[in-house]
Amino acid sequence: MRRYLIQTFGCQMNVHDSQRIEEALYAGGYEATDAPELADLIVFNTCSVREKADHKLRSAVGTFRELKQRKRDLVIAVAGCMAQQRGEALLRELDLVDVVIGPDNIPELMPLVKRVKAGGPPVARTVFDMEAPSFLTPQPRRDASHAAREVCAYVTVMKGCDERCTYCIVPYTRGAERYRASDEIVAEIRALCARGVREVTLLGQTVNSWHEPDQPDGESRFAALIERIARELPELARLRYTSPHPRHVTPALIAAHAQLPLLPAHVHLPVQSGSDRMLRFMLRRYKRQGFLDSARALQDARPGFTLSTDIIVGFPGETEADFADTLSLVREVGFVSVFGFKYSPRPHTPALRLGDSVPEEIKSERLARLFEVVDAQQSRHLQSLVGSTLQVLIEGRSKSDPRRVSGRSERHEIVHVAAPPQLDLAGQLLEVRVVEAYKRSLIAEPREPWAEAVSPRGRLRATHHLPLVPLR
Ligand code: SAH
Ligand code: SF4
Ligand code: F3S
Repeated sequence: MRRYLIQTFGCQMNVHDSQRIEEALYAGGYEATDAPELADLIVFNTCSVREKADHKLRSAVGTFRELKQRKRDLVIAVAGCMAQQRGEALLRELDLVDVVIGPDNIPELMPLVKRVKAGGPPVARTVFDMEAPSFLTPQPRRDASHAAREVCAYVTVMKGCDERCTYCIVPYTRGAERYRASDEIVAEIRALCARGVREVTLLGQTVNSWHEPDQPDGESRFAALIERIARELPELARLRYTSPHPRHVTPALIAAHAQLPLLPAHVHLPVQSGSDRMLRFMLRRYKRQGFLDSARALQDARPGFTLSTDIIVGFPGETEADFADTLSLVREVGFVSVFGFKYSPRPHTPALRLGDSVPEEIKSERLARLFEVVDAQQSRHLQSLVGSTLQVLIEGRSKSDPRRVSGRSERHEIVHVAAPPQLDLAGQLLEVRVVEAYKRSLIAEPREPWAEAVSPRGRLRATHHLPLVPLR
């Protein structure tokens, strides 16, 4: 049996792609390993968004130099956005790399690995599937490493990005927008539900711009897609989506949040900056007030609705006043969590010609101030939940403490619940009462005593006897 090891960087899109890569390798007779010395194939699924992405890849690959010298038939592959961005150049620059494979070429990975193993030269394949876009479907796996029940899954609804946010390399690494037909999306979610998946996250770079691939006007029909999924798949417990673009938060989408309990009371809505001047230079195509209006409308749609976001600090020309606008927006919306990024000039992006005028120390200082505000908001929010009742979708045993099960609330809080070891609760929607708030998570106890769920002989009753919350 041949073995592979995969390291994944970047966003959910890459996590999703890594799962498809693993399935392709599994189908090709490979099994997963965490031990590099046992691996016949090492795959890096890379991201280009962050600063020094090249450097990080170089040093990650470099750690296997000695191993590769010892084990001549070890194949090293680079996938993902760095692969797409650099293509063949990576083969020239990184002598250890044998295969470079773009995000749209995952099905070709296995044949290329075979070719290299058979003595073929290093090879790069980074071609977008513009004419016939394909969306890889998750394949059921039966090997031991994937035996755990999968409760949450991602489903791609569109790929690529036609926005031209001036700082962003993604349109270059992921290509133009391509949309997936709703029939295909619904069929994939139905198959996932049949395998026990309870929560699906719809994926796309601007996920809420979704429309049917053959729709002539190109207007967002994302709310209609959500309604169709809700109507046709009552067995699904939760439907999330990421990442929405603020300019496609339509009245129909807000209404869907108000009407469909399937949608959680949380959205990750990247704002990037609270300053209109910065938003204009970033080409975000909305203004501060427009964002605030959408955020407020979402918060009004469901009681207790929370928002998280992405923010870039130190975009070229960002003044203290611009940053103050960002902080005030963060307070005004009350984001409960933020992914903060220091601006970094990326190849192939329009903002390159704006330079990189904000010094590193100021970027660090602004990021620290941002996190201070957000951490306080997050703590206040989590504290405010103590004593309240939540519905938690249990994902499985906690990795740090097997005496607990963990999952997410109907918003997005991480919730831990102490549970007897014999209880298999993965996939259950459990009603709990919050007893304590940690810095980034909650501790809760079931509303109904566990004893109710266990038969007199001390053996488990079927899990459906546990307090299941009706879906709608
Ligand atoms: N499509 C998604 C996410 C794209 S990349 C969206 O539009 O929301 C994820 C995040 O990386 C972005 O939201 C942005 O905050 C950050 N990012 C992208 N390019 C960056 C750059 N050059 N410098 C710093 N942060 C960047
Ligand atoms: Fe990048 Fe903007 Fe597209 Fe998001 S919407 S992927 S930030 S260009
Ligand atoms: Fe990174 Fe590519 Fe995602 S650049 S953020 S892995 S789309």
